[in-house]
Amino acid sequence: MFKFEGANILSVNQFDRESIEYLFRIADVMQPYAHRQKQTRVLDGAILGNLFFEPSTRTRVSFGTAFNLLGGHVRETTGLSSSALAKGESLYDTARVLSSYSDVIAMRHPDSGSVAEFAEGSRVPVINGGDGANEHPTQALLDLYTIQKEQHAHQAGIDGMHIAMIGDLKHGRTVHSLCKLLCLYQNIKLTLISPKELAMPDYIIDAVNNAGHECVVTEQLEGHLDADIVYQTRIQQERFATEAEANLYRGKFRLNQAIYTQHCKSNTVIMHPLPRDSRADANELDNDLNLNPNLAIFRQADNGVLVRMALFATTLGVQDIVQKYEAPVRWFSNKTDTVN
Ligand code: CP
Repeated sequence: MFKFEGANILSVNQFDRESIEYLFRIADVMQPYAHRQKQTRVLDGAILGNLFFEPSTRTRVSFGTAFNLLGGHVRETTGLSSSALAKGESLYDTARVLSSYSDVIAMRHPDSGSVAEFAEGSRVPVINGGDGANEHPTQALLDLYTIQKEQHAHQAGIDGMHIAMIGDLKHGRTVHSLCKLLCLYQNIKLTLISPKELAMPDYIIDAVNNAGHECVVTEQLEGHLDADIVYQTRIQQERFATEAEANLYRGKFRLNQAIYTQHCKSNTVIMHPLPRDSRADANELDNDLNLNPNLAIFRQADNGVLVRMALFATTLGVQDIVQKYEAPVRWFSNKTDTVN
């Protein structure tokens, strides 16, 4: 099994199925703390360096929230222009310095491979919060955790399921990482729906085929949505040379309640890594789905806190003593599971 303690989390390729199932059991343990039924101070005194050199809402804040919920402190750097990287400092030097100030570092950067390069200079574990169009391993882990929970709610598992991925599958690092993780499971059908210019990279399709899964590649939405999970994605405008080029594809594959009713199963679960692009010319996931109980996008985002708590606990080696440092919650709280 993967040795989490002291490890960098750079790619989903690091994990086997046993390690993922172990991590998900730790994530389950984190639920009462995330729901504010109890608190734990197990990381009291520890410092997270939360370095986000590319825009983020969920990943940055949920890393920070996860660390706070374990009792630790968070130091943030956001934006390339406000760091000394803008003065020509190398990732190696930045890592040497900031890892002296922190016990663990989470980092997002626009360049593929940059987080691994940074980790070479770090003295503490580094967790990849997204490196260019390459990988987003913690998103893939929370996506898989969500899929497992949603499938269990339907008395099913991950093995044997059908997932349809839609949109910008070329630049979407979340779907790249998720496909790699699904290769650890059995007998999955993957339907990959995108314009041919934004198709899933061949090396990932090859990995899916080599895992023995059925892989359907299509440019048609209709007739391909009768899946257990439909995973919608945004056109990744920031990865195109020009906005005009991204505009060629924006709004091509919209999902709304009428399309859901006509083409999905009655219990097809809808996922999206978020942010969804809600501008009129995109609107890939319409607000009219917000009351659909099978819309899991906010449950998915909530699960990010549980999985990131589990990653911090395991990489810092405190996963077995979380309860030893717990205390009651003194403030009003009525948090429950998100309905959708
Ligand atoms: N899913 C995700 O990575 O969202 P953010 O860009 O808001 O972090």
